[in-house]
Amino acid sequence: MHKVDFLVIGSGIAGLTFALKTARKFPSRTIAIITKAEEDETNTKYAQGGIAAVWDFEKDSYEQHINDTLIAGDGLCKRDIVEIVVKEGPERVREIINWGADFDKTKEGEYALGKEGGHSQFRVLHHKDVTGKEIEKTLLEEAQSLPNITFFTHHFVIDIITQHHLGRIVTRHSPDIQCYGVYVLNKENKSIETVLSRITVMATGGAGQVYKSTTNPLIATGDGMAMVYRAKGRVANMEFVQFHPTSLYQPGVSPSFLITEAIRGAGGVLRNSNGALFMQKYDARESLAPRDIVARAIDNEMKLRGEDFVYLDCTPIAKDELLNHFPNIYEKCKSIGLDILKDPIPVVPAAHYMCGGIQTDAFGHSSIQYLYSCGECSSTGLHGANRLASNSLLEALVFANRIFIDACEKIDGIALADQIPDWNAEGTDDPKEMVMITQSVRELKEIMTNYVGIVRSNERLDRALTRLHLLYEETEKLYETTTLSPQLCELRNLITVGFLITRGAAIRKESRGLHYTTDYPHHSKWAEDSMF
Ligand code: FAD
Ligand code: SIN
Repeated sequence: MHKVDFLVIGSGIAGLTFALKTARKFPSRTIAIITKAEEDETNTKYAQGGIAAVWDFEKDSYEQHINDTLIAGDGLCKRDIVEIVVKEGPERVREIINWGADFDKTKEGEYALGKEGGHSQFRVLHHKDVTGKEIEKTLLEEAQSLPNITFFTHHFVIDIITQHHLGRIVTRHSPDIQCYGVYVLNKENKSIETVLSRITVMATGGAGQVYKSTTNPLIATGDGMAMVYRAKGRVANMEFVQFHPTSLYQPGVSPSFLITEAIRGAGGVLRNSNGALFMQKYDARESLAPRDIVARAIDNEMKLRGEDFVYLDCTPIAKDELLNHFPNIYEKCKSIGLDILKDPIPVVPAAHYMCGGIQTDAFGHSSIQYLYSCGECSSTGLHGANRLASNSLLEALVFANRIFIDACEKIDGIALADQIPDWNAEGTDDPKEMVMITQSVRELKEIMTNYVGIVRSNERLDRALTRLHLLYEETEKLYETTTLSPQLCELRNLITVGFLITRGAAIRKESRGLHYTTDYPHHSKWAEDSMF
């Protein structure tokens, strides 16, 4: 059994930022960061385009960034949260610059600002086209240098511990569910350990792996959202899955390689296989419309023409700009025989970002006491029905700071729980055949991709729910009788997330933002969160 003051689940931008601030403020308090893979294997590491923040106050303003966010969010953003993130954002970005994050500058020495879909101004700070790698490296180096932070690498958090584990019946209506820590599977020695904590921060990232084609790495299996739902905590707006319009078309390659939207911000345009521009048919902002619109337009264009991809033409971008700003994409394309200075890039939408998640308030509190949620696993109210590009790194920084402020005030009044039982593995045996798990993961991804993708309908969602139910029952039987493995835990979590996305989509009798259904193609009168 381990006992810590602060437990952070996840080593991406959200978890690391909170941990760093806390460790510095309280040198004598203990902080544990648990991560199920290598420390840096996170969605954060793969972020390309950058981090949006109002920087050039002569051309840009908080009001414009707020408006762009609200427009993208299609009526479901919480205005107070949008204001908080936009107004507190620049200071938080300055903070990571002070910690060593290096963002590109112009020849004149000013920060070079990029533009992406839905932004009315240039406001995206970036490190070439590998911004996330730069941020992750900076934060990780700093966290690893602090003696009161301990990393539990290759440790898989199975569940959060609540009164349920003390034998009390907890329901979704219980007002006082408390988090005492977590049960965690040590992947190296396969033991299940208990970690008790005063304060726990869920920072487990997204869930792109619920779909066949995604830009997200393998770790993005929605574990935090599923754990909180299982613990009877509140989860919201899960139907709003953002499909990035332009991932590199490479059949059979997973995860999909992202072609950053910043390329369109720099002048790249979408064309069909005849070389014709098509975005003007869908939106006046053309290739730089918000992502939901561009992804749906590409999906429609592919269906109309019976083709598997469209093209992204980078030739309008000046050679120097293309090579200096996007070297990673240039090299990647070159490695598969494409010279993007003249060849168009075949692109296709791929699942990219989960706008919904663990519901929080303005200080990151989840509905479970002593449990905060930060980063992509959360639903703070910033993104509404569709996230504005490059707002998620910003959200993670702002909320990590707010959680830090709140947790500082509360930590002294919170005691560690005692008499927490060890994990009970009675009645379980090693799995006979892993295919029972791997095939179910494949089926789940097929169901989600074919029935709960960019365009939905009542019939497709009904089918998905029936099939998900069957997968759920089979997997629960397996869970009760089989020794736990990360693969089995991830399957359970993916099924839960798949169910929450599908159920959210089924109860939303309208089309809004990222949720489009042919049965209800328009907005309903009232914009409301969907809540579980
Ligand atoms: P992550 O960085 O994903 O970290 C999650 C952590 O949780 C990992 O350490 C993981 O191991 C751990 N974890 C998960 N489950 C468990 C478990 N059960 N037990 C233990 N540990 C667990 N956003 C932008 O704003 N700008 C961009 O330019 C941008 N580009 C992107 C490009 C790509 C290819 C992708 C995939 C995303 C991009 N995003 C971008 C989105 C952004 O990167 C993510 O939303 C953000 O990095 C999420 O950070 P996070 O800290 O919440 O989670
Ligand atoms: C991109 O670079 O296109 C991704 C940006 C984001 O997801 O915010």
